[in-house]
Amino acid sequence: MTKLKNCAIRNAVFLLPLVVFGAIAAPSQTRSTPNAQLASKELNARVDALLKKMTLEEKIGQTVQYSAGFATGPSASNLTYDELVAKGQVGSMLNVVGAERTNHYQHIAMEKSRLHIPILFGLDVIHGHRTIFPVPLAVAASWDPEAAETVARVAAEEARADGIAWVFSPMVDIARDPRWGRIIESNGEDPYLSSILARAWVKGYQRGDLSKPDSVAACVKHFAAYGAAIAGRDYNAVDMSELTLRQVYLKPYRAAVDAGVATVMTSFNSINGVPATANPFTLTQILRKEWRFDGFVVSDWGAVAELKNHAIGDGPTVARKALEAGTDMDMEGDLYGTVIAEQVRSGKIPESVVDEAVRRILRVKFALGLFDRPYANVGPAYTPTPQRREAARKVAGETMVLLKNDPVEGVGTLLPLTTKARKVALIGPMADDALDLLGAWTVAGNPKDVITLKSSLSERLGDKLLYAPGCGLLSGADENILKSVTFASAAKSDANEPVPDDNKTIEDAVETARKADVVILALGEPTNWMEGEAASRAHLGFTGNQEKLLEAVVATSKPVILVVLAGRPLQLKWASEHVPAILEAWSPGIEAGPAVADVLFGDVNPSGKLPSSFPRSVGQEPLYYAQTPTGRPAHGDLSRMPHDAAEKFVSRYMDEQNSALFPFGWGLSYTRFSYANPAVDRSEVPVREVADNHQPVTTVSVEVRNTGSVAGTEVVQLYLRNTEASVEQPLRELKGFTRITLAPGETKRVSFPLGFDELNFYSADLKKTVEPTTYDIWLGGSSLATAKTSLKIVE
Ligand code: NOJ
Repeated sequence: MTKLKNCAIRNAVFLLPLVVFGAIAAPSQTRSTPNAQLASKELNARVDALLKKMTLEEKIGQTVQYSAGFATGPSASNLTYDELVAKGQVGSMLNVVGAERTNHYQHIAMEKSRLHIPILFGLDVIHGHRTIFPVPLAVAASWDPEAAETVARVAAEEARADGIAWVFSPMVDIARDPRWGRIIESNGEDPYLSSILARAWVKGYQRGDLSKPDSVAACVKHFAAYGAAIAGRDYNAVDMSELTLRQVYLKPYRAAVDAGVATVMTSFNSINGVPATANPFTLTQILRKEWRFDGFVVSDWGAVAELKNHAIGDGPTVARKALEAGTDMDMEGDLYGTVIAEQVRSGKIPESVVDEAVRRILRVKFALGLFDRPYANVGPAYTPTPQRREAARKVAGETMVLLKNDPVEGVGTLLPLTTKARKVALIGPMADDALDLLGAWTVAGNPKDVITLKSSLSERLGDKLLYAPGCGLLSGADENILKSVTFASAAKSDANEPVPDDNKTIEDAVETARKADVVILALGEPTNWMEGEAASRAHLGFTGNQEKLLEAVVATSKPVILVVLAGRPLQLKWASEHVPAILEAWSPGIEAGPAVADVLFGDVNPSGKLPSSFPRSVGQEPLYYAQTPTGRPAHGDLSRMPHDAAEKFVSRYMDEQNSALFPFGWGLSYTRFSYANPAVDRSEVPVREVADNHQPVTTVSVEVRNTGSVAGTEVVQLYLRNTEASVEQPLRELKGFTRITLAPGETKRVSFPLGFDELNFYSADLKKTVEPTTYDIWLGGSSLATAKTSLKIVE
């Protein structure tokens, strides 16, 4: 039964999008592409008929995108968009929010432009549009594709109602370095997990049919390998082997393309010396030829114009290079609109290149039904509905990761909290900070919709709750950070208020802690513009005086529960050594308070698992579990070193462990799970059988038992190591996972299929291959899984 169920889960994840798309376009499909809707004959006939009527200027207009709202980089100019739209010279706009505003431009396009081509409005709808859910890295911590799909579906409904038919999401850049602020927008460090989630996000946004009135076109980004920016510094160059690019970084984008994603965004970085926005290898060879992507490619903001800074030519040259490489639309770069026409006329760019870009863009506009339904319905002022709030609370509950819950002498484990505690002190700058609980990158989100921790806990505890803010998220010493945070958040917050005197507020917090039986400390990072884009950090500790507050509160000897509210993995070393209970609650969105309270009081048993390794020290970054072997592995922990040369001359830090503080896949529960009797159905399989038949060749399974006294959900994880390949392989790689719920005392055997998909790797000549070898196999509740078996692939 379990076996069947798990196969069904796998098939649902891998096959559904194809089934859905296949069903739509079967009769009129002209060639096999991942999104049959974009390949349909009828649709392409409409595109070609329109293209024939277009002047060169009108064609180029379709490749132009302008922002008529806020800026996240240099702006094109102070253009008057009404006039350009009326001339048919703007194909797309971004940062236009709300039905009235989108309709304003759409009416001009539909009524005044010669060919009445609708504008495609795009927006950064990253973790919800109006109903803000947890940030994507948190959603990844749920290890639940259905959660990602829910977020995307609700976001699509709300965005489309605002006239936004295109969202710049999902971001599936593999992120292995939390110094990079954009890690919060990612699915974390692992290509397998990220690929499964990439499909789910696309499915939620596009619903297998772009023409539905509440579907939006998704945009997978940032192509490619943006997350591997050297030193975690945003916009920096990327340098990696093609093997690593293919084996690790490209996989989630490919998954999104296979799921039918309609658009792709280029990345700011260069890849091995060639900027991604003018990179024929990634944009044409891989994306178009190998993956048969049929949608369109948009540059990132200003990335076409910024090619000049990459020193690969002047304005006209870089515009030509970008267009010819396969960047179809110029986001806010103001180059395609100004320099392409002359080059076509002088014969430097064949008009067919422009035609092809326009075709790709129009295909998406037709598929979305924009020509038939261009306008948004202007409705009453929006507030999240109770159903959507319920969905946001449920998803947020699933994302929380219980990092630690050690017993305290005389008290036992602090979590879940019982109402027995006479007084509970809630302390910390995140406890009542609506803006930062919302999380980074929320264009249409409203901090007023956020229910804070303070509000939820006081509802539950009444006058048993004591409260003190403790300190600010930033201190006066963070002058430069403050300036940039203030610049960016002035519109939404009271960031211009004077920074309070932390010494005084920390003293007050200590007094408050002393009056309580237990302390909940809510610490984190200012999410608004200190996380996300242009938010790299060289330090990963709590910001401002929060560490000081933490130490002062711990010094009271009161039992402390630390709730970490930050989108990125922070360095929690001191906390992990001195605080008995730590809950990673990320940036939970509008239902922050209720969701955190659900977990703290045990109404929701935590089941989240880390999608990203948490470091002991920033010096370990980039830190990820799927390390490749070294000839000189470190043997033990630091306490053993260095007794002799064999222990000294190994791959280790002199002053820190190699391992993560909390590893990938880690997360506790209020119950315990044990793993026993791992087994494979067939222990030996001929290599030819694996290579020739892309069906599972065997099944690996394990018994999982809930050994505690409450029901709980476990994310059962499968890791493989290929022990003898022609190219060295990671020490462990995630190759399967599933969420199961077990009653106390209940046991289930959980199975995972193994076949070519799980067993292949890239050979030195960059072909997906399987070879005779032995796979070590581990099953468990984290990347430290210990239930072990093996599979031999024989000649
Ligand atoms: C720049 C960011 O890199 C990208 O993710 C975003 O979608 C665009 N700006 C549009 O705001």
